[in-house]
Amino acid sequence: MKPTFFNRLVLAAFSLLAIACGGKGAEATAQTAGTGGRTLVVYYSFTGNVKTIASAIGSQLEADMVEIQPAEKGLDYAADNYAIGSRLIDDIRRSPNDAGSYPAIDAVDIDFSRYANVIIATPLWWGNMAAPMQTFLYHNGSQMAGKNIGLVVSSASSGISGVVGDAERLVPAGNILLPHLWIRSAQTGRAREMVKEWLDKINFNSNQQTGNMRIKISDGNHSIVFELNETSAAKSLYGMLPLEVKVENYSTNEKIFYPPTTVSFGADCIEGDCPAGTLALFSPWGNVVMFYGAAGRYNGLYILGKVIDGADGIRNLSGTICVEKQEGMTGIGGPKADTDKASAVYRPDGSRAPKADTAGVYIHGGKKFVKR
Ligand SMILES: Cc1cc2nc3c(=O)[nH]c(=O)nc-3n(C[C@H](O)[C@H](O)[C@H](O)COP(=O)(O)O)c2cc1C
Repeated sequence: MKPTFFNRLVLAAFSLLAIACGGKGAEATAQTAGTGGRTLVVYYSFTGNVKTIASAIGSQLEADMVEIQPAEKGLDYAADNYAIGSRLIDDIRRSPNDAGSYPAIDAVDIDFSRYANVIIATPLWWGNMAAPMQTFLYHNGSQMAGKNIGLVVSSASSGISGVVGDAERLVPAGNILLPHLWIRSAQTGRAREMVKEWLDKINFNSNQQTGNMRIKISDGNHSIVFELNETSAAKSLYGMLPLEVKVENYSTNEKIFYPPTTVSFGADCIEGDCPAGTLALFSPWGNVVMFYGAAGRYNGLYILGKVIDGADGIRNLSGTICVEKQEGMTGIGGPKADTDKASAVYRPDGSRAPKADTAGVYIHGGKKFVKR
């Protein structure tokens, strides 16, 4: 026989005691995010409580929101003493390593490389993480390696240690932050203030956002802007800018350069298909690749970012290039040059400047600009 919510309330009291004795739980010592970067909020909600909590998070944090939806519509997980929900959780408990144990969900398309932080908000079902959220993490948890993971759980009364265990099992290489946020159903009306307190505790507020890391690569004739992802390799490259290096041809679809010091990379780095415009690190050789033709996934080829301006110029880069931070960009592309010649950078005296990385006044595309 399954324990009732009343029995679970008693269990919850015991788990609170355990927490007070130094156990891992909602009141454990804070482990702060402190790294900034973009945030993704992934949530699932059956009766709406987590949805309310998720929107409280979304209203206080600059974040992208993704709602998980079961593929089978219209199921009442609470009917017949929670029979369907209970069966789904039992299936997962029996064979947690079998993909067939997890109920299907609607497809989600998330580019995890864009996020440093992921907040998972889920209801508790029979002491565990709600089954649809488990499905999502079973298929995507490995892509959250090295990311800061915030865990938010809603339950009627049960303690959340089982849900924490599920998160640790399904996102084994995530940096799961403490404390977790536990909001009981009856507290949903206070979600806004509870979320605010929690975000402060984990040092995870919108002021932490670093904004986009954008870099400009130019040879004096062509100028290309890439937006970097939040991976350790992208941060490593960004940290060594500005650089002046030689660009080389490789194969029929790549321009490459070798940074003077090694670009470091960690388990969070991502391999994947590289469409034209992808910036990547080929870690076995240590070179950075700018693709002007598509390439497939390759071992150790880690995606660093993608082009956002000047894609056509990649194939024509030659000679010495300047790789520099592009700070304070508005997202509005610069004036488009009619010809390669027009896109060159000149000094006010009319002489051609190989690059404009030192402070001064330059002419570009017929317009004057000041590099501070
Ligand atoms: C299938 C199912 C099982 C549940 N099991 C528990 C439980 O074991 N303990 C508990 O305190 N609440 C349990 N609940 C209640 C939910 O955790 C709680 O109502 C939560 O706020 C629901 O979030 P939602 O409104 O976003 O779906 C269960 C709910 C469902 C549907």
